[in-house]
Order: sequence, then C-alpha cells, then structure tokens
Amino acid sequence: MIDIRFDNRVAIVTGAGGGLGKTYALELGARGARVVVNDLGGGVDGTGGSSSAADEVVARIRAGGGEAIACYQSVASPEGGEGIVKSALDAFGQVDIVVNNAGILRDKSFAKLEPADLDAVIDVHLRGAFHVSQPAFRVMKERGYGRFLFTSSAAGIFGNFGQANYGAAKMGLIGLSNVIAVEGARSNIRSNVIAPVARTRMTEQLLGPLASALDPELVMPLACFLVSEESNLTHEVFSVGGGRYARIFIGLCRGWVAPKGTQPTLEDVRDHMKEIMNTEGFTVPASINDEMAVLMAALR
Ligand code: NAI
Repeated sequence: MIDIRFDNRVAIVTGAGGGLGKTYALELGARGARVVVNDLGGGVDGTGGSSSAADEVVARIRAGGGEAIACYQSVASPEGGEGIVKSALDAFGQVDIVVNNAGILRDKSFAKLEPADLDAVIDVHLRGAFHVSQPAFRVMKERGYGRFLFTSSAAGIFGNFGQANYGAAKMGLIGLSNVIAVEGARSNIRSNVIAPVARTRMTEQLLGPLASALDPELVMPLACFLVSEESNLTHEVFSVGGGRYARIFIGLCRGWVAPKGTQPTLEDVRDHMKEIMNTEGFTVPASINDEMAVLMAALR
C-alpha cells in the first residue's frame, strides 16, 4: 500500500537529470511533491551543459500528473545555490526537502592530482551542497520543517584508490549534515546521508559483474523515505545499494584513561593500544556534547 505521500511539500533534487537523482525526482513527483529538477546537464567530469536532461525528467513528472520545474543552474557557486532555491520559492512558494545529489568525478592517484581536480570536485560536491542547503535551511527554519539528504560515498568513508579529492569532499558532507542535524533539531529539520552504490553513467565502467544487480531504483526507496514526514531520523549515515539498506555509524570507543594526575608517555600509549583500539562498549555520539559527556564520565 502506498501511504507515504509528499503532498504540499516542495523538493529540490540536484543533479536530477539522470542516474540516482532522476529516480528520486520521479518518485517524489509521483507521490505528490512539487519538484525542482536541477541539473546542468554536463559530462561525468562536470564539463559541458545542456537543458535536455532536466527537461525530460520534468516532462515525465508532468505526464504522470505531477508538478515540476527544471532548473539548469550549477550548484557549484553561491549564486547558483541561491538561484536554485529561488526557483523553488518563485514557482512553489516554499522549500521542504533538499536532496543534494549532484556530482562529478576527476579521479587520479593522490600523487598525480592537480589543484584544479581538487577544486572542481570540492566545488560541486561539498561547496555545492553547502550553497544549496544554506538558503534552503533559512527558509525551513522559519517554517519549522525541513528534510535534507546528502550523498556521500564509500570512497571517502572507507577509502578508495584514486579518489582523494572525491573522498575528501564526500566525507566533508557527513560533517555538514551532522551540523545541520544539530542546528536544525529544534526546527523539525532532519538531515541524513547516504553512501549509495548504483549502476549509473558515473560507475558503469567500474562495477564489473555486480553492475546488473545495482539498479539505481534500489537506492531510491531509502533516499525518498529519509526525506519524508514519516522519517524522524537525523544525524545518520546509510550504505545503500542492490536492495541492501544498512546503517553506517561513527562510534566512540571507551578507550584507555591515563591514571589521574600523571603525564602519560609514548610508551604508555603503546602499551595500552589494545584498550585504545577495543570496540567493546562503544557509543555513537549524536553531537560534540555527547562526546564531552563520555569524556567527563571517564575522567571522573
Ligand atoms: P550521474 O552522473 O548520473 O548523476 C550526477 C548528476 O549531477 C548528473 O546528471 C550531472 O549533470 C549533475 N551535475 C554535475 N555537476 C552539477 C552541478 N554543478 N550542478 C548541477 N548538477 C550537476 O551519477 P550518479 O551515480 O547518479 O551520482 C549521483 C550522486 O551519487 C553523486 O553525488 C555521486 O558522487 C554519488 N555516488 C554515486 C555512486 C554510484 O555508485 N553511482 C557511488 C557513491 C556516490
């Protein structure tokens, strides 16, 4: 039974002209959201541009009886971010949901990476999400409702060869989401992150024999659930791909506490490394305050 609806909600989906973003935009539109389909329509490396990708998704949403507009601005500048949010406000009067999904690749091994490869990737993924989310956050705060989704990657969370720029940007998004989750908590603003795995133009050369099992449609249900009214989850990260949905968390271990009033040496640290590394009894802090509480308890 379909009972999760997005009527009276306005959603911005960046990079929604293809791949994962397109599946989110189509589903949100089919379930009643008014959708801003943002995509500059460039290549996987971020060069070029065209309006056709976003236009086609808008046409499909409208053909299904939904409401959507296209927006071709780049997320990669403050003006672009402002412009995308303004498109939503001009067309639909509000913003309730932001799915930060736009992305590019400039893979090279760390030793060979050029500053331009770092800038391009940070600009789209990390700065881009910031530029779109900040003006949207201001609107949501005033209205007392908001849902953010950020798109990270296992390449940053767990590490991958040749993706230092991308991994850094993708991990940065988790920090951004965590702070938005903390700052937005009282205004009913929720913020979460997914690390997807899916067969799209970005990955079709990389996935090998697994590719056929990794339909982007299999990422969509979690992504759309997390930005629904039904979900109160916040400050979370999920691994999602091929129909598998799994929480990822950053745990804080109990660690080793040096005896009160002593100055531990390097050798003390070496000799207690087993306790420092032990994961038994870990906690999952939901903010810096939670970590401080654990520290204070340990020092008491
Ligand atoms: P995709 O290349 O099909 O989609 C990315 C979209 O973002 C494209 O339509 C592109 O035109 C758009 N875009 C790029 N730069 C933009 C900008 N400056 N402003 C607005 N739109 C822009 O690739 P896919 O796989 O659908 O990627 C979606 C997101 O998921 C990306 O953030 C990607 O890094 C992330 N991701 C994907 C994985 C996968 O297995 N497909 C794995 C991990 C993360």
